[in-house]
Amino acid sequence: MQFPLMRNNISREDLDAVIAHLQQDDPMLTHSHNVRAFENEWSNWLGVKYSVFVNSGASANLLTMAILKIRHPEGGEVIVPPLTWVSDISSVLQNGFMPVFVDIDRRSLAMDARQVLAKLTDRTRAVFLTHVQGFDGLDDELIAELKRRNVPLIEDVCESHGATHNGRRLGSIGWISNFSYYYAHHMSTIEGGMVCTDDPEVYQQIRMLRSHGMVRESNDPELRSRYVSDYPELNPDFIFAFPAYNMRNTELGGILGRSQLKRLDAAVARRNENLHRFMRQLDSSKYRTDFKFEGCSNYAFNIVLKDADDGLVQRLMTRMREAGIEFRRGSAGGGNQIRQPYLKGIVPEGHHKLFPEVEHIHFYGFYIGNFPDLRGDEIDKLCEIINAVQ
Ligand SMILES: Cc1ncc(COP(=O)(O)O)c(C=O)c1O
Repeated sequence: MQFPLMRNNISREDLDAVIAHLQQDDPMLTHSHNVRAFENEWSNWLGVKYSVFVNSGASANLLTMAILKIRHPEGGEVIVPPLTWVSDISSVLQNGFMPVFVDIDRRSLAMDARQVLAKLTDRTRAVFLTHVQGFDGLDDELIAELKRRNVPLIEDVCESHGATHNGRRLGSIGWISNFSYYYAHHMSTIEGGMVCTDDPEVYQQIRMLRSHGMVRESNDPELRSRYVSDYPELNPDFIFAFPAYNMRNTELGGILGRSQLKRLDAAVARRNENLHRFMRQLDSSKYRTDFKFEGCSNYAFNIVLKDADDGLVQRLMTRMREAGIEFRRGSAGGGNQIRQPYLKGIVPEGHHKLFPEVEHIHFYGFYIGNFPDLRGDEIDKLCEIINAVQ
């Protein structure tokens, strides 16, 4: 593949850091010092008090919805976009909440703020917003109104590490935020994810939920001794506060994360330069080029047809395949999630048609790879190929 979705996301330097660790006598491999150090370094970089390293972005989503369920065992609604990854919706369902869908803003690809506000009810338990493909999905009015109405904002930043809103990093603004370090993302621990928050109670609960619901995983001595005295018949090492999961990561993931974090800002700057070079040249008579670029942190070039042109879309795919350009149709998560089989019987028949902006991305939107070592001449070539499709 001449133009893959991702190239060299784990460098020699990262691998050498792992090897140096393995060459020690009796190296620690399970969750230990490097996991804790990565969590602290990530919190400092992001601008939050607490981070908990888990084994994937999907796990971060699931634990976050588990936190919401602890607060709302009665259930309720969670507002989500149809353009997101499956786990943003499956985690809602798995925790007994009903997803309520909102169409996207075509410039940010995230939920349209006015439509989110229009869907709030007394059953809304949270707004679970996805920052799609590095674009800033936040809106000042949305933030202020959710605060006023006391509705928690949860940010999924799995596709947008390093993006900002009014100069603040995405993921430091909502109540809880989620990141992914899967290979194809801005940085990688092979598999991995992070749950971040400023809320000390959430922090303790996420630590326990990550490790079987075990009370000894909390690092708050007061909380631990409360459980020990409330359950004197239980062995203090084995008190399970919640029906939970094992979603821990390992020392190797922690080492990779720490090594990668050192160059994340430089990689974000490089990818944004690539994005601007790409968008400057893309033919704006055929493709959308009016995205919300302020604060963005791109890892994939978006190619969205201006018009619903079925002929052009087929010719574009044929040409990209011929030219060795790896692409994903439908953008994040393959397009409109409401069309997926797992939602049959949960949403009404034909519900997907109510979201025309996501429907457009489903059929006429693509992304292709943008990584730090993509060269300027390669970007120019990509634009030449894509623009020449008639
Ligand atoms: C928005 C979003 N959320 C969650 C995830 C899940 O992350 P992971 O692949 O690390 O499980 C992804 C994955 O790509 C994603 O794009």
